[in-house]
Order: sequence, then structure tokens, then C-alpha cells
Amino acid sequence: MSPFPSPRFKNPRAKYNFQGRTCSISGVGSYVPARVLTNAELERMVDTTDEWITSRTGIKERRIAARNEFTSDLAAQAAQRAMRRAGVTADRVELIIVATATPDMPFPSTACLVQRKIGAYGAAAFDLEAACAGFIYGLEIGQQFIMSRTYDTVLVIGAEKLSSILNWKDRNTCVLFGDGAGAAVLQNRPNAHGLLTAVMGADGRKADLLFMAGGGSRCPATAESVAAGLHYVRMEGKETFKCAVQAMQTAAEEALRRCEIDISRIKCVIPHQANRRVIDAVGERLGARPEQVFVNLHQYGNTSAASVAIALDEAVVSGRIQRGDLILLVVFGAGLTWGAAVIEW
Ligand code: ACO
Repeated sequence: MSPFPSPRFKNPRAKYNFQGRTCSISGVGSYVPARVLTNAELERMVDTTDEWITSRTGIKERRIAARNEFTSDLAAQAAQRAMRRAGVTADRVELIIVATATPDMPFPSTACLVQRKIGAYGAAAFDLEAACAGFIYGLEIGQQFIMSRTYDTVLVIGAEKLSSILNWKDRNTCVLFGDGAGAAVLQNRPNAHGLLTAVMGADGRKADLLFMAGGGSRCPATAESVAAGLHYVRMEGKETFKCAVQAMQTAAEEALRRCEIDISRIKCVIPHQANRRVIDAVGERLGARPEQVFVNLHQYGNTSAASVAIALDEAVVSGRIQRGDLILLVVFGAGLTWGAAVIEW
């Protein structure tokens, strides 16, 4: 029996042939900073090797934002690309959701800062914190607003500047992460299915596996907290690894079950890009063929909430996904949080 319970709430859109108002993704976009940090450079910064990083994680390089480039800048760039692809101008955006664990600052929300940068002054805006699972949480929340006819156009963004919370002396974590952003414009399009189902889950009992202790109400920034390195990411890698594989498998199977489809019907599986061994294990457990599984981890490392959003954009731009294809997104992150979504592109 899986330790990860399937959500009790059964979505009425479970049936693949559901009727009613639908939510589709009318455009995606992504942005990564120009600066590439290679494993070879990391070898000169911490006690590590390209061989260790490649064999244990699959990561070869990652992008690092400039000092004066913040999460909201990455998010705004990705959003503008997604809006251009969707043919949507800023005045039509009614809601901006930014999924991030690295907001520009505790408040105002990064979503409000993005609103200012893209000029979507008619939109409501808020941030969503579900760590690496944030983009799927955002898709599901955005979709609820579309399905309920509250809004017609919602912008969902996953964006991170993880380099700002990494201890560059800790080889256990600093080699794993990178910066970037991905965005999607959600709209109702007649005669298109779009997001068929989204599964979301969480288990706060395992909150201590992956966290950043400093900077919140429990441990505000002080000279002592900074000296103790509490403003850096901490992770129990091995246990996180096991939970990631199990939770991603369970979430993906639940999403497929709700849609009553088999993995063979999925054109492209887009898993959270955290570790090549996690991706391979999840793909194998789901019975996916290697060519079904999208991987760009070697270029970007783990970009948390931006991860599957960037991958989705790249899969579309490269022609891996065509209109009408079925896609499975599956994510896992701190919290613990996890999720999966089936999309008819
Ligand atoms: N270079 C060289 N050696 C290293 C490095 C490094 N960068 N990092 C750790 N090591 C060493 C350790 O110190 C340890 O040495 P020891 O045996 O002398 O103590 C040894 O390598 C093995 O360490 P493990 O932790 O056992 O290595 P493991 O094979 O578990 O890989 C890793 C570590 C890559 C972190 C892996 O556990 C992992 O990817 N975990 C899952 C992470 C994940 O899925 N995150 C996704 C969700 S969270 C999110 O995305 C924000």
C-alpha cells in the first residue's frame, strides 16, 4: 500500500469525454538566464567532480541569474513569451499566479511585481508556494477559475532564482539547482479539451526532508541566523529521492486512472527535472518507453517550480508535442508536495 494517499476529492472531469467548459493552454513560454555554470566550474568551487554530478544526477550545467536579475524578471520574460504565443495582450490577463519558493521578497508577492513588469494592470495577482510542485498546483487553481467562468484568461508562471538560497560551499546541494522560469496562458477554447485532470497531494509530516529555515516568522533574519547558514537550502537527499519516486508514480497513476487512459496513449511524459535516476525510475514504474520521457535536466539542473514549465515549452518548441497529443506532467517537491496533470495539447 502506497504511503501517499490518493486525494479523496474526485474530479468530475475524470472522464476523458467530459462535457462543459474546458481549460486549455493557449501558449507557453520560458526564459533562462544567459550565464551557464558548468560542472567543470563547480569542480573549482567545491569538493566535487563532473563524474560524480553526472553519474549521480545527470546534470551537466545550470543557468545562474545575474545579481540584478530577480525571480520576477525571469517570470516576466517567460510570461511575455507565453502571451505572444497565445496572441494575448497584457490587458486581457485577468489573473496572475506565480509559483515560487524564491520570491523577490516576502511581500509584496512576486506576482504583483510581474504584473507591473508586463503591464497587466487589470489582473488580480498572487503567489503560490508548493515548492517544485507549484506549477501543477498553479495550473489546477488557474483552471478552476476558468471552469467556474470567473476568468477567461489566466497566466500561470513557475519561476525561481534558487542560486540566491544556495550555500556554494555545500556540495550536497549547490550542484543540484539552477535558475529559470516557465509560463502558460490558460483560456477556454471551444472544441479543445486542454487540461483533463490534475492531481495534487502533500504530506507535511515529511517537511523536514527539504527546507530553508531562515527568513520566516520562526527564524527571522538576524546576524546569528545568517552566520548559522539558515538562509540556505537543506536536503536529506537519499530519503527525498525515495519519496520522490513513490509520490510521482502514485500521482501519475492516479491522473491516468481518472482519465481512463493507459501510459501508451501519452505522447510525452514531462517529469520534474531533479535527478536523472528519479526520472528513469518513475518512467520505468509507469511503463513508459524511454523515448516518451522528456529530459532537459542536463542543461538546467533542478529549477523547482519552473522545471516542468520550461520542459513543456521546450517540448512544444522542438516539435515533440503537437496539437491533440496527450501529455503527462508529474512533479514532486518540498512540503512534501506532489502532483500530476494530463493535458490534451
Ligand atoms: N560531489 C561529490 N560527492 C558528493 C557530492 C558532490 N556534489 N554531494 C554529496 N557527495 C558525497 C556525500 O558526501 C556522500 O559521501 P560519504 O559517503 O563519504 O558520506 C556520498 O557522496 C554519497 O552521498 P549520497 O547522499 O548517498 O548520494 P546519493 O546517491 O543519494 O545522491 C542526491 C545525492 C543527488 C542529492 C540524491 O539523493 C538526490 O537527487 N535526491 C533527490 C533529490 C530530489 O529528488 N529532489 C526533488 C525534490 S525537491 C526539489 O526539487 C526542490
